Amino acid sequence: MEKINLGLIGFGNVGSGVVKILRERKTFLSKKIGLEIEIKKICDKDRSSKRCITVDKNLFTSEASEIINDPKIDIVVELIGGIHPAKEFISDALKKGKNVVTANKALLAEHGRELFALAMDRGKNIYFEASVGAGIPIIKSLREGLVANKFSSIFGIVNGTSNYVLTQMSCNNSSFNDALQDAKKKGFAEKDPTLDIEGTDSAHKLILLAYLCFGKLVSLNDIFVEGISRVSLADINYAKELGFQVKLLAIAKKESGELELRVHPTFIPEGHLLSSVDGIFNAIYVSSDLAGNLLFYGPGAGQLSAASAVVSDIVDLAHDIKAGLFRPTLNIVPDEGVKKLRKFDEIESRYYIRFNALDKPGVLAKISGILAKSGISIASVTQKERRRASIVPIVMIIHEAKEKNLRAALNVIDRLNVIKEKSVAIRIEEA
Ligand code: HSE
Repeated sequence: MEKINLGLIGFGNVGSGVVKILRERKTFLSKKIGLEIEIKKICDKDRSSKRCITVDKNLFTSEASEIINDPKIDIVVELIGGIHPAKEFISDALKKGKNVVTANKALLAEHGRELFALAMDRGKNIYFEASVGAGIPIIKSLREGLVANKFSSIFGIVNGTSNYVLTQMSCNNSSFNDALQDAKKKGFAEKDPTLDIEGTDSAHKLILLAYLCFGKLVSLNDIFVEGISRVSLADINYAKELGFQVKLLAIAKKESGELELRVHPTFIPEGHLLSSVDGIFNAIYVSSDLAGNLLFYGPGAGQLSAASAVVSDIVDLAHDIKAGLFRPTLNIVPDEGVKKLRKFDEIESRYYIRFNALDKPGVLAKISGILAKSGISIASVTQKERRRASIVPIVMIIHEAKEKNLRAALNVIDRLNVIKEKSVAIRIEEA
């Protein structure tokens, strides 16, 4: 049976999971794919941590260059994460004529243009299934299963840490801080969860999804990103009273040639499929013209789940290598007619707004007068009884409004002397 040789850079949680699967399912896999996948070398700088599998020490090297420069290695798997030196390892591997598998969404989101161009130039591919939704086969589905489709939108819950925190707040009435501590204790959140909680990880994943759907590889600066650290328990509870769940959504929409991209906490109506995606689960809701609306759902993190995606990339590449195939459109996605990126100011949305105002006559009239001047129409309003030092929450749902008009109105409202705290505005999506 033909053998495909692999070099693995990074033997942490996912890397050791990959080795475990390739080792324990060796016969199963080779029967299924008609090829043998051989791990030739593993580069690991930290040999002291405990791993889920023991490996012959002769396989190890502490120098990635020993893998990159080994002419017998066909595929380089990069699983160290971060930008440097992962970027240099991948570039060097492509230059040495290797195909590459990576789970590194931050690297591809920030330097994908350069790396994909290099891969194209060298007639090689970079596969990255594990970079979004771990074991959920979203990348392969978008570029192969749905190849004949045009897409109009993607709504993704693509960060398990944030989703776990929001679920704890909603189901157990936990505060944001308690929920985050709980996530850390259970190993669902990193020691420093900033990238997850502040939305950057979701934005990186959105960049890759939008690239596959719309052929435009945007930069992080083109995306409005707001995380969940300012979502309060009060807003989660008002959302429920109003028939919504709050989720951190990564959104891409294409309308009349304009592409809008944003990540932010979002009110989703309770009946929507995404509203019941809880805990560390991820889900990506894709609207396509031929196959319709599709939901991809599953655990968005975890050793074996991510390793399952990496192994599927390895197998795909092994088939390509055996067949002498190079598929340029896997990495260079044709432009889907995006004429421009919509500025965030121009985005239109319905909103939930919570004002914290003094409880006295005329306050509501003042607020609604300012909103009316900005052309903003109120759909519903409730004054809550939960009074704190004569401050009451006024909860409003407004009809579709332009972001810039709403911001301008809130700036004026927040300067009124009857308004005692900064107002909260959360966008509503019906998907
Ligand atoms: N840190 C990510 C999450 C998983 O919390 O979903 C890896 O992409």
